[in-house]
Amino acid sequence: MGNILAIDSSVSGDSSISRGLVQDTVVRLLEANPKAALTYRDLAAAPVPHLTPATVAGIRGTAETDAEIAARMLSDELIAELQSADVIVIGAPMYNFSIPTSLRAWFDHVLRPRVTFRYGENGAEGLLSGKRAIVVETRGGVYSEGPTRGMDFQEPYLKTLLAFIGITDVAFIHAEKIGYGPEAQQLSLAKAREQIDAAVNPRAAAEYASDNAQADPAIAWNALMQKNLDDVFGERDAARRLDVIRQIYCDDAVLHEPDHSVRGHDAISQAVTELLAHLPADFAFSAIRPASSHNGIGRVQWTAGPPEGPAEVTGIDIASFDGGRIRSLHVFLDQADA
Ligand SMILES: Cc1cc2nc3c(=O)[nH]c(=O)nc-3n(C[C@H](O)[C@H](O)[C@H](O)COP(=O)(O)O)c2cc1C
Repeated sequence: MGNILAIDSSVSGDSSISRGLVQDTVVRLLEANPKAALTYRDLAAAPVPHLTPATVAGIRGTAETDAEIAARMLSDELIAELQSADVIVIGAPMYNFSIPTSLRAWFDHVLRPRVTFRYGENGAEGLLSGKRAIVVETRGGVYSEGPTRGMDFQEPYLKTLLAFIGITDVAFIHAEKIGYGPEAQQLSLAKAREQIDAAVNPRAAAEYASDNAQADPAIAWNALMQKNLDDVFGERDAARRLDVIRQIYCDDAVLHEPDHSVRGHDAISQAVTELLAHLPADFAFSAIRPASSHNGIGRVQWTAGPPEGPAEVTGIDIASFDGGRIRSLHVFLDQADA
Protein backbone atom coordinates (compact mmCIF):
# COMPACT_ATOMS: atom_id res chain seq x y z
CA MET A 1 0.00 0.00 0.00
CA GLY A 2 1.96 3.00 -1.27
CA ASN A 3 -0.29 5.97 -1.95
CA ILE A 4 -3.31 7.35 -0.14
CA LEU A 5 -5.79 9.76 -1.69
CA ALA A 6 -8.02 11.41 0.95
CA ILE A 7 -11.04 13.50 0.00
CA ASP A 8 -13.22 15.62 2.28
CA SER A 9 -16.52 17.07 1.12
CA SER A 10 -18.30 18.27 4.28
CA VAL A 11 -19.09 21.98 4.37
CA SER A 12 -19.06 22.01 8.19
CA GLY A 13 -15.41 22.82 8.77
CA ASP A 14 -13.98 21.95 12.17
CA SER A 15 -17.32 20.71 13.50
CA SER A 16 -17.59 18.12 10.72
CA ILE A 17 -17.83 14.52 11.89
CA SER A 18 -16.73 13.05 8.57
CA ARG A 19 -13.61 15.22 8.46
CA GLY A 20 -12.58 13.90 11.87
CA LEU A 21 -13.16 10.30 10.83
CA VAL A 22 -11.32 10.77 7.51
CA GLN A 23 -8.41 12.12 9.51
CA ASP A 24 -8.57 9.14 11.91
CA THR A 25 -8.56 6.79 8.93
CA VAL A 26 -5.57 8.49 7.33
CA VAL A 27 -3.66 8.42 10.63
CA ARG A 28 -4.36 4.70 10.99
CA LEU A 29 -3.29 4.05 7.39
CA LEU A 30 -0.08 5.98 7.92
CA GLU A 31 0.61 4.12 11.17
CA ALA A 32 0.24 0.86 9.25
CA ASN A 33 2.50 2.15 6.46
CA PRO A 34 4.59 5.16 7.48
CA LYS A 35 6.11 5.43 4.01
CA ALA A 36 2.76 5.91 2.26
CA ALA A 37 2.43 9.15 0.29
CA LEU A 38 -0.68 11.21 1.01
CA THR A 39 -2.60 13.34 -1.49
CA TYR A 40 -5.42 15.38 0.01
CA ARG A 41 -8.40 17.10 -1.65
CA ASP A 42 -10.75 19.37 0.25
CA LEU A 43 -13.75 19.78 -2.02
CA ALA A 44 -15.32 22.42 0.22
CA ALA A 45 -12.21 24.63 0.33
CA ALA A 46 -11.33 24.07 -3.33
CA PRO A 47 -14.50 22.99 -5.11
CA VAL A 48 -14.42 21.12 -8.38
CA PRO A 49 -16.72 23.08 -10.72
CA HIS A 50 -20.13 21.73 -11.57
CA LEU A 51 -20.68 20.62 -15.12
CA THR A 52 -21.33 23.19 -17.84
CA PRO A 53 -21.37 22.75 -21.62
CA ALA A 54 -17.70 23.74 -21.65
CA THR A 55 -16.61 21.34 -18.89
CA VAL A 56 -18.47 18.40 -20.45
CA ALA A 57 -16.94 19.20 -23.85
CA GLY A 58 -13.52 19.45 -22.24
CA ILE A 59 -13.78 16.27 -20.20
CA ARG A 60 -15.56 14.04 -22.69
CA GLY A 61 -14.95 15.68 -26.09
CA THR A 62 -12.07 17.42 -27.83
CA ALA A 63 -11.01 20.35 -25.68
CA GLU A 64 -10.60 23.48 -27.81
CA THR A 65 -11.59 26.67 -25.99
CA ASP A 66 -9.73 27.91 -22.90
CA ALA A 67 -12.60 26.81 -20.66
CA GLU A 68 -12.67 23.35 -22.24
CA ILE A 69 -8.90 22.97 -21.94
CA ALA A 70 -9.02 24.03 -18.27
CA ALA A 71 -11.73 21.45 -17.58
CA ARG A 72 -9.73 18.75 -19.34
CA MET A 73 -6.62 19.63 -17.35
CA LEU A 74 -8.48 19.46 -14.05
CA SER A 75 -10.02 16.12 -15.03
CA ASP A 76 -6.55 14.83 -16.00
CA GLU A 77 -5.15 15.96 -12.66
CA LEU A 78 -7.94 14.38 -10.59
CA ILE A 79 -7.76 11.13 -12.55
CA ALA A 80 -3.96 11.01 -12.18
CA GLU A 81 -4.40 11.32 -8.39
CA LEU A 82 -6.90 8.49 -8.47
CA GLN A 83 -4.78 6.29 -10.71
CA SER A 84 -1.73 6.61 -8.50
CA ALA A 85 -3.65 5.92 -5.27
CA ASP A 86 -3.72 2.47 -3.70
CA VAL A 87 -6.27 3.45 -1.06
CA ILE A 88 -8.89 6.16 -1.49
CA VAL A 89 -10.49 7.58 1.65
CA ILE A 90 -13.67 9.53 0.99
CA GLY A 91 -15.57 11.63 3.52
CA ALA A 92 -19.17 11.59 2.33
CA PRO A 93 -21.77 13.20 4.59
CA MET A 94 -25.37 12.45 3.75
CA TYR A 95 -26.95 15.60 2.35
CA ASN A 96 -30.60 15.33 1.43
CA PHE A 97 -30.40 11.54 1.30
CA SER A 98 -27.45 11.52 -1.09
CA ILE A 99 -23.92 12.95 -1.32
CA PRO A 100 -22.71 16.58 -1.33
CA THR A 101 -22.84 18.14 -4.78
CA SER A 102 -19.11 18.93 -4.48
CA LEU A 103 -18.38 15.20 -4.30
CA ARG A 104 -20.71 14.56 -7.20
CA ALA A 105 -18.77 17.17 -9.21
CA TRP A 106 -15.53 15.32 -8.40
CA PHE A 107 -17.06 12.08 -9.72
CA ASP A 108 -18.26 14.01 -12.82
CA HIS A 109 -14.61 14.79 -13.52
CA VAL A 110 -13.16 11.33 -12.88
CA LEU A 111 -15.74 9.12 -14.58
CA ARG A 112 -14.32 9.54 -18.06
CA PRO A 113 -15.00 7.25 -21.03
CA ARG A 114 -11.98 5.28 -22.27
CA VAL A 115 -9.91 6.52 -19.31
CA THR A 116 -11.61 5.21 -16.16
CA PHE A 117 -14.40 3.17 -17.82
CA ARG A 118 -15.40 1.90 -21.22
CA TYR A 119 -18.33 0.19 -22.85
CA GLY A 120 -17.62 -3.13 -24.51
CA GLU A 121 -19.62 -6.08 -25.75
CA ASN A 122 -20.40 -7.03 -22.16
CA GLY A 123 -21.47 -3.57 -21.12
CA ALA A 124 -19.58 -1.16 -18.91
CA GLU A 125 -16.12 -2.06 -17.68
CA GLY A 126 -14.17 -0.16 -15.00
CA LEU A 127 -10.58 0.56 -16.00
CA LEU A 128 -9.09 1.08 -12.54
CA SER A 129 -7.88 -2.00 -10.71
CA GLY A 130 -6.15 -3.07 -7.52
CA LYS A 131 -7.53 -0.21 -5.44
CA ARG A 132 -9.35 -0.13 -2.10
CA ALA A 133 -11.70 2.56 -0.91
CA ILE A 134 -12.73 3.44 2.64
CA VAL A 135 -15.82 5.62 2.58
CA VAL A 136 -16.86 7.48 5.73
CA GLU A 137 -20.61 8.05 5.72
CA THR A 138 -22.03 10.44 8.29
CA ARG A 139 -25.77 10.76 8.70
CA GLY A 140 -28.11 12.66 10.97
CA GLY A 141 -30.51 9.70 11.05
CA VAL A 142 -30.35 5.93 10.59
CA TYR A 143 -30.34 4.26 7.19
CA SER A 144 -28.36 1.05 7.71
CA GLU A 145 -31.45 -0.68 9.13
CA GLY A 146 -35.15 -0.21 9.63
CA PRO A 147 -37.86 1.54 7.63
CA THR A 148 -35.62 4.38 6.35
CA ARG A 149 -33.24 1.95 4.63
CA GLY A 150 -34.93 2.63 1.28
CA MET A 151 -34.16 6.36 1.60
CA ASP A 152 -30.41 5.75 1.48
CA PHE A 153 -29.31 7.18 -1.87
CA GLN A 154 -25.83 7.73 -0.48
CA GLU A 155 -24.25 4.28 -0.05
CA PRO A 156 -25.78 2.46 -3.06
CA TYR A 157 -24.89 5.46 -5.21
CA LEU A 158 -21.28 5.63 -3.99
CA LYS A 159 -20.95 1.86 -4.39
CA THR A 160 -22.20 2.12 -7.98
CA LEU A 161 -19.99 5.07 -8.90
CA LEU A 162 -16.86 3.39 -7.50
CA ALA A 163 -17.66 -0.02 -9.03
CA PHE A 164 -18.32 1.65 -12.39
CA ILE A 165 -14.67 2.69 -12.60
CA GLY A 166 -13.37 -0.60 -11.19
CA ILE A 167 -13.15 0.04 -7.45
CA THR A 168 -15.08 -2.80 -5.87
CA ASP A 169 -13.09 -3.35 -2.68
CA VAL A 170 -14.92 -0.76 -0.58
CA ALA A 171 -15.37 -0.54 3.20
CA PHE A 172 -18.20 1.73 4.30
CA ILE A 173 -17.79 3.32 7.73
CA HIS A 174 -21.10 4.40 9.24
CA ALA A 175 -21.50 7.24 11.71
CA GLU A 176 -25.26 7.41 12.06
CA LYS A 177 -27.59 9.12 14.56
CA ILE A 178 -25.40 12.22 14.50
CA GLY A 179 -28.58 14.25 15.03
CA TYR A 180 -29.81 12.12 17.98
CA GLY A 181 -27.91 13.96 20.72
CA PRO A 182 -24.46 13.72 22.29
CA GLU A 183 -24.80 10.24 23.80
CA ALA A 184 -25.95 8.58 20.57
CA GLN A 185 -23.29 10.54 18.69
CA GLN A 186 -20.49 9.34 21.01
CA LEU A 187 -21.58 5.73 20.69
CA SER A 188 -21.81 6.10 16.93
CA LEU A 189 -18.32 7.61 16.75
CA ALA A 190 -16.87 4.82 18.89
CA LYS A 191 -18.42 2.24 16.57
CA ALA A 192 -17.18 4.11 13.51
CA ARG A 193 -13.63 4.13 14.87
CA GLU A 194 -13.78 0.40 15.45
CA GLN A 195 -15.00 -0.02 11.86
CA ILE A 196 -12.06 2.09 10.73
CA ASP A 197 -9.64 -0.13 12.67
CA ALA A 198 -11.11 -3.21 11.04
CA ALA A 199 -11.17 -1.58 7.58
CA VAL A 200 -7.63 -0.28 7.67
CA ASN A 201 -6.17 -3.70 8.18
CA PRO A 202 -8.29 -6.50 9.61
CA ARG A 203 -5.64 -9.18 9.02
CA ALA A 204 -2.87 -7.18 10.58
CA ALA A 205 -5.13 -6.34 13.52
CA ALA A 206 -5.82 -10.02 13.98
CA GLU A 207 -2.14 -10.97 13.72
CA TYR A 208 -1.27 -8.17 16.09
CA ALA A 209 -3.73 -9.55 18.59
CA SER A 210 -2.15 -12.98 18.56
CA ASP A 211 1.53 -12.09 18.15
CA ASN A 212 1.72 -9.16 20.47
CA ALA A 213 -0.25 -10.07 23.57
CA GLN A 214 2.17 -7.95 25.62
CA ALA A 215 1.02 -4.79 23.88
CA ASP A 216 -2.68 -4.18 23.51
CA PRO A 217 -4.48 -6.95 21.67
CA ALA A 218 -7.68 -5.73 23.30
CA ILE A 219 -7.91 -3.09 20.59
CA ALA A 220 -8.12 -5.73 17.89
CA TRP A 221 -10.40 -8.00 19.95
CA ASN A 222 -12.81 -5.15 20.55
CA ALA A 223 -12.96 -4.57 16.80
CA LEU A 224 -13.68 -8.28 16.27
CA MET A 225 -16.54 -8.24 18.80
CA GLN A 226 -18.06 -5.14 17.25
CA LYS A 227 -17.73 -6.63 13.78
CA ASN A 228 -19.36 -9.84 15.05
CA LEU A 229 -22.35 -7.85 16.28
CA ASP A 230 -22.64 -5.71 13.14
CA ASP A 231 -21.67 -8.07 10.33
CA VAL A 232 -22.57 -11.52 11.72
CA PHE A 233 -25.62 -11.05 13.96
CA GLY A 234 -26.65 -7.89 12.06
CA GLU A 235 -26.31 -9.46 8.58
CA ARG A 236 -29.34 -11.11 7.01
CA ASP A 237 -27.55 -12.04 3.77
CA ALA A 238 -26.19 -15.52 4.58
CA ALA A 239 -23.38 -15.44 1.97
CA ARG A 240 -22.05 -12.11 3.19
CA ARG A 241 -22.34 -13.28 6.80
CA LEU A 242 -20.42 -16.50 6.11
CA ASP A 243 -17.58 -14.47 4.53
CA VAL A 244 -17.26 -12.45 7.72
CA ILE A 245 -17.50 -15.55 9.94
CA ARG A 246 -14.62 -17.14 8.00
CA GLN A 247 -12.60 -13.99 8.52
CA ILE A 248 -13.16 -13.47 12.25
CA TYR A 249 -13.89 -16.95 13.70
CA CYS A 250 -11.40 -19.82 14.11
CA ASP A 251 -12.17 -22.74 11.78
CA ASP A 252 -13.55 -24.90 14.59
CA ALA A 253 -14.97 -22.04 16.68
CA VAL A 254 -17.94 -22.76 18.93
CA LEU A 255 -21.02 -20.61 19.34
CA HIS A 256 -22.81 -21.26 22.64
CA GLU A 257 -26.37 -19.99 22.76
CA PRO A 258 -28.41 -20.54 25.95
CA ASP A 259 -30.14 -23.63 24.60
CA HIS A 260 -27.58 -25.17 22.27
CA SER A 261 -24.05 -24.99 20.88
CA VAL A 262 -22.72 -25.31 17.35
CA ARG A 263 -19.21 -25.68 15.97
CA GLY A 264 -17.65 -24.45 12.71
CA HIS A 265 -18.30 -21.61 10.26
CA ASP A 266 -21.27 -23.10 8.41
CA ALA A 267 -23.03 -24.17 11.60
CA ILE A 268 -22.51 -20.76 13.21
CA SER A 269 -23.94 -19.00 10.17
CA GLN A 270 -26.89 -21.42 10.13
CA ALA A 271 -27.57 -20.76 13.83
CA VAL A 272 -27.67 -17.01 13.13
CA THR A 273 -30.00 -17.56 10.17
CA GLU A 274 -32.35 -19.49 12.47
CA LEU A 275 -32.15 -16.83 15.16
CA LEU A 276 -32.89 -14.00 12.71
CA ALA A 277 -35.78 -15.97 11.18
CA HIS A 278 -37.58 -15.63 14.53
CA LEU A 279 -37.09 -11.86 14.67
CA PRO A 280 -38.91 -9.11 12.76
CA ALA A 281 -37.06 -7.95 9.62
CA ASP A 282 -36.27 -4.53 11.06
CA PHE A 283 -34.93 -5.91 14.35
CA ALA A 284 -31.41 -4.61 14.88
CA PHE A 285 -28.57 -5.40 17.28
CA SER A 286 -26.46 -2.57 18.61
CA ALA A 287 -23.75 -2.30 21.23
CA ILE A 288 -24.71 -0.36 24.37
CA ARG A 289 -21.08 0.74 24.64
CA PRO A 290 -17.87 -0.27 22.89
CA ALA A 291 -16.67 -3.82 23.53
CA SER A 292 -13.98 -4.35 26.15
CA SER A 293 -11.47 -7.14 26.58
CA HIS A 294 -8.35 -8.24 28.41
CA ASN A 295 -6.31 -11.37 28.88
CA GLY A 296 -7.92 -13.26 26.05
CA ILE A 297 -11.58 -12.65 26.93
CA GLY A 298 -13.86 -9.95 25.57
CA ARG A 299 -17.38 -8.79 26.33
CA VAL A 300 -19.91 -6.58 24.65
CA GLN A 301 -23.31 -5.59 26.01
CA TRP A 302 -25.97 -5.21 23.35
CA THR A 303 -29.60 -4.37 22.82
CA ALA A 304 -31.93 -5.57 20.12
CA GLY A 305 -35.24 -4.27 18.95
CA PRO A 306 -36.90 -2.16 16.28
CA PRO A 307 -34.68 0.75 15.18
CA GLU A 308 -36.79 3.51 16.66
CA GLY A 309 -38.44 1.46 19.39
CA PRO A 310 -37.48 0.29 22.87
CA ALA A 311 -35.07 -2.60 23.36
CA GLU A 312 -36.94 -5.90 23.33
CA VAL A 313 -33.97 -8.02 24.28
CA THR A 314 -30.66 -7.18 25.86
CA GLY A 315 -27.71 -9.44 26.40
CA ILE A 316 -23.99 -9.90 26.64
CA ASP A 317 -21.58 -11.65 24.29
CA ILE A 318 -18.50 -13.13 25.92
CA ALA A 319 -15.75 -14.24 23.55
CA SER A 320 -12.42 -16.01 23.81
CA PHE A 321 -9.78 -15.50 21.15
CA ASP A 322 -7.09 -17.54 19.50
CA GLY A 323 -4.70 -16.44 16.75
CA GLY A 324 -6.50 -13.10 16.48
CA ARG A 325 -9.86 -14.73 15.79
CA ILE A 326 -12.84 -15.71 17.92
CA ARG A 327 -12.40 -19.19 19.40
CA SER A 328 -15.73 -19.30 21.26
CA LEU A 329 -18.67 -16.99 21.74
CA HIS A 330 -21.16 -17.33 24.61
CA VAL A 331 -24.40 -15.43 24.12
CA PHE A 332 -26.23 -14.53 27.36
CA LEU A 333 -29.77 -13.17 27.04
CA ASP A 334 -31.64 -10.94 29.54
CA GLN A 335 -35.22 -9.87 29.14
CA ALA A 336 -35.46 -6.10 28.72
CA ASP A 337 -37.39 -4.16 31.34
CA ALA A 338 -41.02 -3.74 30.38
C1 LIG B 1 -27.51 20.29 3.84
C2 LIG B 1 -27.65 19.13 4.76
C3 LIG B 1 -28.50 18.10 4.42
C4 LIG B 1 -28.64 17.00 5.26
N1 LIG B 1 -29.44 15.97 4.88
C5 LIG B 1 -29.54 14.87 5.67
C6 LIG B 1 -30.35 13.76 5.27
O1 LIG B 1 -30.96 13.73 4.23
N2 LIG B 1 -30.42 12.70 6.11
C7 LIG B 1 -29.71 12.66 7.29
O2 LIG B 1 -29.80 11.65 8.00
N3 LIG B 1 -28.94 13.68 7.67
C8 LIG B 1 -28.83 14.77 6.89
N4 LIG B 1 -28.03 15.82 7.28
C9 LIG B 1 -27.25 15.67 8.52
C10 LIG B 1 -25.82 15.25 8.20
O3 LIG B 1 -25.76 14.06 7.47
C11 LIG B 1 -25.04 15.09 9.50
O4 LIG B 1 -25.07 16.32 10.19
C12 LIG B 1 -23.61 14.68 9.25
O5 LIG B 1 -22.92 14.71 10.48
C13 LIG B 1 -22.92 15.62 8.27
O6 LIG B 1 -21.56 15.25 8.12
P1 LIG B 1 -20.43 16.21 8.64
O7 LIG B 1 -20.59 16.30 10.14
O8 LIG B 1 -19.16 15.57 8.24
O9 LIG B 1 -20.63 17.54 7.99
C14 LIG B 1 -27.90 16.94 6.47
C15 LIG B 1 -27.04 17.99 6.81
C16 LIG B 1 -26.91 19.08 5.97
C17 LIG B 1 -25.97 20.18 6.34
